[in-house]
Amino acid sequence: MILKWTEDLSVGHETLDKEHQKWISLLNDFYQGLMDGKSKEKLTELVVGMLDYTKYHFADEERYMKSIGYPDFDAHKEKHDYYVNRITEFYEKIKNDRLILSLEVTNFLKTWLINHIKGTDQQYARFANNI
Ligand SMILES: [Fe+2]
Ligand SMILES: [Fe+2]
Repeated sequence: MILKWTEDLSVGHETLDKEHQKWISLLNDFYQGLMDGKSKEKLTELVVGMLDYTKYHFADEERYMKSIGYPDFDAHKEKHDYYVNRITEFYEKIKNDRLILSLEVTNFLKTWLINHIKGTDQQYARFANNI
């Protein structure tokens, strides 16, 4: 396990916290697959799972931000789009054998995710007085 959800990552919203937990567990599964030397097919499948869930979570979070009239919505959405593009690129590379799966990629995903929850998601949480 490279990442664990802890209280300090809370956005004070039950559904969104649960989604962040699931998101983290998918990243951990991918990391574990990498460590276990799983096949390219299996790893590709795990990346697709992560990508799909990321899109699902972002859409849900964006709906929530709209519903509370969050003023920094556009900047936040841009960050989401950036991350989706990075994972999509990553997926394309694996599929086309252009990338040796490395810890560097996992570290990028992990660092981005944690910084995003703490630095960006928690801003809407503060705006909504959830935390
Ligand atoms: Fe977000
Ligand atoms: Fe989020």
